[in-house]
Amino acid sequence: MMVSYQQENELAVITINNPPVNALSHGVRQGVFDAIAKAQADDSKAIVLLCEGRTFVAGADISEFGKPMQEPSLAQVNAALESSSKPVIAAIHGTALGGGFELALSCHYRCAVESAAVGLPEVNLGLLPGAGGTQRVPRLIGLKAALDMITSGQKIGAVKATELGLIDRVLDGELKPAAMAYARELLANGAPLRRIRDMSVPADGLNEQALENYRQQLNKRKRGQEAPQKIVDCIAAAAGRTFDEGLAFERERFAECIASEQSAALRHIFFAERSAAKIQGIGKAVQPRAISKVGIIGAGTMGGGIAMVFANAGIPVTLLDLNEEGLERGLALIAKNYGITVSKGKLSEQEAAARQARISGSTDYESLADADLVIEAVFESMDVKRQVFSKLDEVCKPGAILATNTSYLDVNDIAATTSRPQDVIGLHFFSPANVMRLLEVVRADKTADDVLATAMALGKRIGKVAVLAGVCYGFIGNRMLRQYGREAQLCMIEGASPEQIDGVLTRFGMAMGPLAVGDLAGLDIGYKARESLTEEQKGDPRTYCIADALVEQGRLGQKTGAGYYRYDPQTRARSSDPEVLKIIKEQAAKHGVHQRKLSDEEILDRHLLALINEGFRILEEGIAQRSSDIDVVYVYGYGFPSYRGGPMFHAAQRGLKNVYESILKLQEQTGEAHWSPAPLLAQLVSEGKSLQDWESSKN
Ligand code: 3HC
Repeated sequence: MMVSYQQENELAVITINNPPVNALSHGVRQGVFDAIAKAQADDSKAIVLLCEGRTFVAGADISEFGKPMQEPSLAQVNAALESSSKPVIAAIHGTALGGGFELALSCHYRCAVESAAVGLPEVNLGLLPGAGGTQRVPRLIGLKAALDMITSGQKIGAVKATELGLIDRVLDGELKPAAMAYARELLANGAPLRRIRDMSVPADGLNEQALENYRQQLNKRKRGQEAPQKIVDCIAAAAGRTFDEGLAFERERFAECIASEQSAALRHIFFAERSAAKIQGIGKAVQPRAISKVGIIGAGTMGGGIAMVFANAGIPVTLLDLNEEGLERGLALIAKNYGITVSKGKLSEQEAAARQARISGSTDYESLADADLVIEAVFESMDVKRQVFSKLDEVCKPGAILATNTSYLDVNDIAATTSRPQDVIGLHFFSPANVMRLLEVVRADKTADDVLATAMALGKRIGKVAVLAGVCYGFIGNRMLRQYGREAQLCMIEGASPEQIDGVLTRFGMAMGPLAVGDLAGLDIGYKARESLTEEQKGDPRTYCIADALVEQGRLGQKTGAGYYRYDPQTRARSSDPEVLKIIKEQAAKHGVHQRKLSDEEILDRHLLALINEGFRILEEGIAQRSSDIDVVYVYGYGFPSYRGGPMFHAAQRGLKNVYESILKLQEQTGEAHWSPAPLLAQLVSEGKSLQDWESSKN
């Protein structure tokens, strides 16, 4: 039974039990609806609504979206709660989210244990609160606070929520007895039936102009997304219309969102992120190893960032660098980064100090002897990595996990330098490591199952989205990025400017364009990497000659004030540079490339198809476990717009046949070998199958 009903003296208690997160599936809605009716008829005087398990209701059941809705709807359940003739008190633990919080808002009072949080995260799914949230929240806390809460989707802790007025009482002690005591107190005080629908929106001076400004800010912060603007419409409706009109308005906007491609894409990413953590063939029986002490080798930007990730998650870290000065510099950078976070008001001084204290520096390998996990983040050279791993093999305790943060190198080769390849794994963090959410977990041939299970569990613990990848040059993300970067270079030499290319891709929704990313990372990185390659390994010179020419003229990107763009030394503002166009022209002439005007459509298509085609190869080779893992990699590691669902989801939306034919057309037009369609793509199109068909037949 998903919902139970008991009467305990003068109190009725409705308990929801729908693991894992008490989502509002049909059975829950029906159960609460029936229980409310029952409570109206017995001699109880007040009703307490609470949940079993780890959390209060975490929202509508997302897996029911897109299927026909079975009555009662959540709106009907909420109306029944709100119009109850006896006070209903929601008692919250864990997180009351989305429809779950809207359920609580339909009760007359809300109490919560201190560790609880509430929120309306629908915007993260391309939705808006569709069961009264946009109408009830402004009535409780005002328009401005409601806008901030609902457009950000952020959770608010119980104490803050009480200060705002979203919750009426923070409970001391255990949820149920404390909530019952609060209910009895309300009864004893003759507390009225407080229906939010009857309240008016408090005036907070938010006029038309302020709303317009808010919309414009949102346009920047949530560029390209539809739901945030619709949220503003609904909140404006709360101010200008009656409650029932506002509800009807909200319901219409919700229906539009749920039918939108953006929401389908964001829901796909929600489930994709959760399935990414699961490794096919490794069940719950495989116990992860305990990780309570971590070593990081290399105190550069990457090593320092990784150290912060662990310290932030409460795990002590030893940061090792053989160079004393390098170590000092690394530790100073960490201190500076924490200082910046404190000055922005995002962290208390005390918490920053506690986190920093978890990181200790060392120049001696022996200090890693008791680490449960060591992550190497040294210079990207096989010789250097080999030396590090043989040393680790000597000093680390048996069972310690030895991880490399390499971006490209062969993890099997690295593992082979140790006597314990089963303990070796790739943990590929993305820069800046303390900000980027993606973690590629690279499985080498001999990596033990429990090492993999540990890495996936650890990913979650440190707030990362872990995705499993197999060994190949660049794993999932960088292997695809190479194809994408190639197109950026080719489009340039054929006649597109850096501004046009970056403009097309940012309008599509990418966080940054490829050339602006190059300038940010530093063009010398690729240049140095190419220096160690043979001409053959470097490939087609048209794909790197412009970058090389820029570096040779001292244009290394943002750090030298010039790269593909020019940067203002003070403001770092980017502007286009005629000098770059000249360099591009010279290189085109040198390599016999006839320049022409490229359309925006062509530029977009070439970049996306390059990603998608490589994605199909990666999938077919088993480098990625599933297509949705590729989407997660691109959304969390490469700034692909989440509201487009990732490259593979985007391909499916576009239609595989269309993708295939577009690639074939490029092949015909250019005669380039890299435009041969991936065999898996060709196969699916010829068999008329979808990616889903293929994936389910494989499992
Ligand atoms: N519907 C269906 N399934 C859900 C769900 C939901 N709302 N929320 C979580 N789940 C599932 C997950 O898919 C996962 O399933 P799995 O074990 O098979 O992979 C399982 O519950 C556990 O979820 P997590 O792994 O995410 O568990 P955590 O403990 O890390 O996090 C949580 C719990 C904070 C509740 C997190 O799951 C979450 O943020 N859920 C989504 C909340 C949300 O977006 N709610 C709004 C929904 S839209 C809505 O309510 C519309 C309304 O306005 C009409």
